[in-house]
Amino acid sequence: MTTETQPKTAKLTIGDREIDLDLIHGTEGEIGLDIRKLRAQANVIAYDPGFANTGSCRSEITFLDGEKGILRYRGYPIEQLAEHSSFLEVAWLLIKGELPTKERLAEFEHEIKYHTMLKESLKGFFTSLPRMGHPMAICAAAVGGLSTFYQDVKYDDPEDKRWAAVIRLLAKFPTIAAYAYKHSLRLPFMYPRNDLGYTENILHLLYANPCEEYAPDPVIAKALDLLLILHADHEQNCSTSTVRMVGSSHANLFASVSAGISALWGPLHGGANQKVIEMLISIHEGGKTAQQFMEMAKDKKSNTRLMGFGHRVYKNHDPRARILQQACDDVLNRLGIHNPLLEIAKELEGIALSDDYFIERKLYPNVDFYSGIIYQALGIPVDMFTVFFSMGRLPGWIAQWLEFHRDEDARISRPRQIYTGATERDYVPAHKR
Ligand code: ACO
Repeated sequence: MTTETQPKTAKLTIGDREIDLDLIHGTEGEIGLDIRKLRAQANVIAYDPGFANTGSCRSEITFLDGEKGILRYRGYPIEQLAEHSSFLEVAWLLIKGELPTKERLAEFEHEIKYHTMLKESLKGFFTSLPRMGHPMAICAAAVGGLSTFYQDVKYDDPEDKRWAAVIRLLAKFPTIAAYAYKHSLRLPFMYPRNDLGYTENILHLLYANPCEEYAPDPVIAKALDLLLILHADHEQNCSTSTVRMVGSSHANLFASVSAGISALWGPLHGGANQKVIEMLISIHEGGKTAQQFMEMAKDKKSNTRLMGFGHRVYKNHDPRARILQQACDDVLNRLGIHNPLLEIAKELEGIALSDDYFIERKLYPNVDFYSGIIYQALGIPVDMFTVFFSMGRLPGWIAQWLEFHRDEDARISRPRQIYTGATERDYVPAHKR
């Protein structure tokens, strides 16, 4: 359908009233019903719990088609970016909208490299927290805490100040994540190394110790880079919508991203990769067969879900899961690791893909199904899986936060409700209740 032939309005009939509503067209054929004036015109609001059918913004960043299993960042298919690009190049693409020139990418990498250190006093923050505290809680707090060091960063700062916040966040988050990890083991914090690339430096921060030389394994660094690329953005998911929503109150970038980290922590979102490994271990160690577990996952009374399966938007294969399944085999082979959990995962996937329950509900493996197995093979502790997800998602959150603030339609997020509580009644004093 051409732009001229696309319908421009829709009619809504409520009782004997007819209301005209504008239609908004996306570049990939998606049509949105503009209901902004609906309440004023008809005293009616839209009811959409979980916002499953609500377009909260127009965005030029990421396109995904859940029915066809398509994911593109700024128009580039995820498969091509996974094969040819690097995480920092993808970060630039998401944030700036275009692939960088070679020179601009080198400058960007340089800028990030020279902002990785944390203020020395922040070390005390990490050591003051319980050793067993979840690193997502620590990361959320530390990222929010960056606003205390960089108080000049406000939502309406000129581009260069905002850019400084972007660089700081991308540069410092791996250091924050590694400090959270080192503290959990009571190991000394490592300073970042400027002779290393972004992902090599992450490995150094996590695994090096001050007593000896450390050389990051290039196979592991490459696999990590791929994981970060695959997680870099996913349009208006729970954590990204959170970042936009918090940003809509004009909270600064650090505060908004801190809220995004908290949203991502939940087991129905980014926390699922940790839950996948825990599920696979429980099947492995609990002596259950994959088939027995699948019966439980289908039984609503058992309160068990096949973690890493199903997605709010993908009703087909998650393209990231396809890439990761292949990467999982490659990484394990190259590192010479035989992981029985991978065998169980493949068995579960095989059963699910031919089982009516999963077929009818269009439940396919999502990005979390295989990412946990790769993280485990890379030696990353289970508690840190979701932290790595956040590290990957940072460019997406930043790009979406910046886009929100450039959007002429942007307003503070403030959904309505359908009130279903008690109607007006009189207060009864305590002695009469
Ligand atoms: N195992 C078993 N049954 C499932 C699963 C699952 N993993 N996922 C959904 N279902 C069933 C539901 O019970 C429901 O069945 P019903 O129609 O008989 O009531 C039906 O499929 C639809 O599920 P909803 O929960 O309504 O789907 P929704 O879109 O709200 O939820 C979600 C999507 C949260 C991802 C869900 O599929 C889930 O809990 N999956 C497991 C957790 C997970 O892997 N999360 C990671 C998501 S990806 C990400 O955040 C990066």
